[in-house]
Formats: sequence, C-alpha cells, structure tokens
Amino acid sequence: MQDDTPELVKYATLNIPGHDPIELPVLRGTMGPEVIDIRALGKQGYFTYDPGFVSTAACSSRITFIDGAKGILLYRGYPIDQLATKANYLKVCYLLLKGELPDKEQYTHFENEIKHHTLIHEQITSLFKAFRRDSHPMAIMCGIAGALSAFYHDNLDIYDPEHREKTAIRLIAKIPTLAAMAYKYSIGHPFIYPQNKLSYAANFLHMMFATPSEDYEVNPVIARAMDRIFILHADHEQNASTSSVRLAGSSGANPYACIAAGIASLWGPAHGGANEACLRMLEQIGTTDRIPEFIARAKDKNDPFRLSGFGHRVYKAYDPRAVVMRETCHEVLNELHIENHPILDVATELERIALSDEYFIERHLYPNVDFYSGIILNAIGIPTSMFTVIFALARTVGWIAHWTEMQEMPESRIGRPRQIYVGKTLRQVKGGRSRL
Ligand code: CMC
Repeated sequence: MQDDTPELVKYATLNIPGHDPIELPVLRGTMGPEVIDIRALGKQGYFTYDPGFVSTAACSSRITFIDGAKGILLYRGYPIDQLATKANYLKVCYLLLKGELPDKEQYTHFENEIKHHTLIHEQITSLFKAFRRDSHPMAIMCGIAGALSAFYHDNLDIYDPEHREKTAIRLIAKIPTLAAMAYKYSIGHPFIYPQNKLSYAANFLHMMFATPSEDYEVNPVIARAMDRIFILHADHEQNASTSSVRLAGSSGANPYACIAAGIASLWGPAHGGANEACLRMLEQIGTTDRIPEFIARAKDKNDPFRLSGFGHRVYKAYDPRAVVMRETCHEVLNELHIENHPILDVATELERIALSDEYFIERHLYPNVDFYSGIILNAIGIPTSMFTVIFALARTVGWIAHWTEMQEMPESRIGRPRQIYVGKTLRQVKGGRSRL
C-alpha cells in the first residue's frame, strides 16, 4: 500500500428497513482505526449525523497521527517528545511541510529562506494604527493575517506549487514579526525589527522585549523553552482551527484568508484560548485551599465552569505534549530562580487532586498542553493576552502544511456538510403564491 492511499480491507453492510442492503467500503490507513467510507451514501438518499465530527474523518492526511487512548502524537511518524528534545522548530516546520527532516544543506537553505522573509511590508504598520491600543492581540492577528493577501498577491496562484511554497515561507517568517508588533502596539512601544542573526525563537523574544534604547540579551534557556512551545503546538491533525483552514481553503480561497479563518477558530476558550483561560483560572483560584471549591464547580452540571487545561476531544490518556511542557516549565522556573511560584503550586495541587477524583478519572480528563504552557509564558514575562497569539504563531506551519496537502490531494472537494432540518415545514406568506 502506498502511504497516501487508504487500503480497502472489507465491506460493511448497512441494513436499513425498507431499503436494499448498502455495501460500504471499510478503509485502513497506515495507522489508526478502520474507517467506513460513506461517500456513496448520499446517492442512496441518506446522510450521516455527527455534530462536532466525533466519528467523522473529513480527509486523509500524511502529516500528523494521534492515538488518543495511548497518548501518542507523531509528526510525519516521529514522536513529539523526540522532536521536542532533539530537533528545533524550523526543522519541525521543514518536516511538517516536506515530509522529512532536513539534512544540513536543506536546513541551511530553509533557514535562510525564512530569515529573509521576516520583514513585513512597511505599509502594514499603518494597519496596526487603525486598531485601538486596548484591542485583544488575537483581534489584530485575525485582521492582519487576512490583510496579508492584499500585500503579497504576487504569489497567490493556489495551483502553482512554487507560489504555495513561497506563501508558506512568508507566513512562517512573518507571523512572529506581526505577533510581536501586536504586543508592542498594545503597550505603546515602537515596533522592533527582526534580527536575522538570531534563531527563530530568539528573534521572536527579541522583537517582543528589546527596545530601541537598550540592548536585549536573549537568554538561551528561555529561547529553547520558547522553541519547544512552538514545536509542541506546531500541528495536531484535524482540530477545529485546522479544519477551519481546510474548509475555507476548499472553496479556493487564498491561503492568507484561510490562515485568518484558522486564527479566528483558535481564539475560542475550548481550543487555543484555553491557555489564556487556564492562567486566568489558576490566578482566580489563587491558593491551594480554594481548589476544592473549583473542582466542585467543574463537576456541577448546572455550572458552565470547566477546568481549563483539562480534557481533550482525542486524548483519553495524559496529553504527551503536557508531559514535555511540565518538564520545560520546571527548567524555566529553575533558570529564572523562581522558587516560590504560587500559580505553579496551585497548578501542581490541582493536577494532583483532579487526577485522583472519580469524576475526572471516569471521564479520562487529564491535563492538556495548555495546562503548563501558561505558567512558562507567564514566567518569561509574556502577557496573558498574548498566549493564544503564540499558539497561533506556532500552529501557522501546521495550518499551511494541511492547506498545501489539501491542494495536492485529488480527493479534495469543496467542504459542504449537510444537516437534519428541524425547522418549519413549507408555509405561505399571506397573499404569496408558491411555485412549490
Ligand atoms: N472540566 C470539567 N468537566 C469536563 C471538562 C473539564 N475541563 N472537559 C470535559 N468535561 C466533562 C464534560 O462535562 C462531559 O461530562 P458528561 O459526560 O458528564 O456530560 C465529559 O467530560 C466529556 O466532555 P465533552 O464535552 O463531551 O468532551 P469534548 O470532546 O466535546 O470536549 C474539550 C473537549 C477540550 C472542549 C473539553 O474537555 C474542554 O472544554 N476542556 C477545557 C478547555 C481546554 O482546556 N481546551 C484545550 C484543549 S487542548 C488545546 C487544543 O488542542 O486546542
């Protein structure tokens, strides 16, 4: 079997009373559960119903594999913990985009390409000035990402592989510059230009924290932690924001517009907004003696409160990203000589209590990637409102890798879900004449 063509393993028979049995192919990928191919069902007069896509594979993909029961996450076959400790973010970007880790020469070329696209068109700075200073940086990112298509329309032929590659490079290179600008704008500081001699993560920290009046030395331990956060967030198969990018892209929309759709989807507290919500929750809990009160609220069906940073649609075991994130969190706090960190104390105790509580055990609710990332970002000095922006920055490569893959796949069609209509049946406006 080719690694990009699911294998037909058998047929399932669907018996619907009053209808001839319907044979449905059962497909198998290289890993993961078998999948019933229902594409022909519509022609037989039936749709399937699956709000939230709990049991639906919307595409086939070669990029990322998750086994939620075992807590496994692979990018192009490589385990996430190995990539987080043995690679760097740009190597992971290359891997996600091209399918293989780069050799030395390929890496040097790729890094150079990225570094030579970090500057943004100077006129984009005027766009920032149209936003209120107190705008949420995710609102700015949604707007500016979409606006990039107005600046870089020289390479917008989505059917041209060279154009697609150029756009991927531009997005990965420019998003950190824009993210740091969103922060600088919110605090009234001048924008800081990228420094191409720095690594990707160090350059981002430089653009966030340097000022024209003082030198800023990037701490390598912090840069490494930042890089690791980027790696851990780089892709996560068909999550809400990636599916939004694919759905937007399925109509032929330009890639910058699609990335803006991804950023908008990521913003929600059930998705990328959870890191911001989690830190705010830990701050609100404040001290370990208040944890039982919040656990009780999370379990109360009449209270909409949920423990942010806990649970996942796919992982029913410990999120493998959270394991690396917890280690990184301790490294950063050691490096910064932060011994008493009340928020970390609350997080550690909350995790301990939740993991021994029947409610959380029964529902397989474990800490997810966002549980510890907020504590690291907070210790580094990144404001809470920037947390989801950093997630968006890191996920841009995943979005663009999926968008590119979709353009290359012959099976791709415009995404058009159906529905069960439960509204009014046909009726007439007073005096109206229907042709139905
Ligand atoms: N706190 C309390 N109860 C929860 C939580 C939570 N964080 N998450 C799920 N549950 C309960 C839920 O009430 C339900 O209980 P019951 O069976 O009694 O009705 C059960 O667990 C299953 O939950 P679900 O809503 O069916 O699960 P889902 O797959 O639809 O939602 C989720 C997944 C991530 C949206 C959800 O767990 C959640 O809201 N978590 C908090 C937000 C969060 O941390 N999100 C970040 C996810 S990781 C980063 C990313 O990839 O974006």
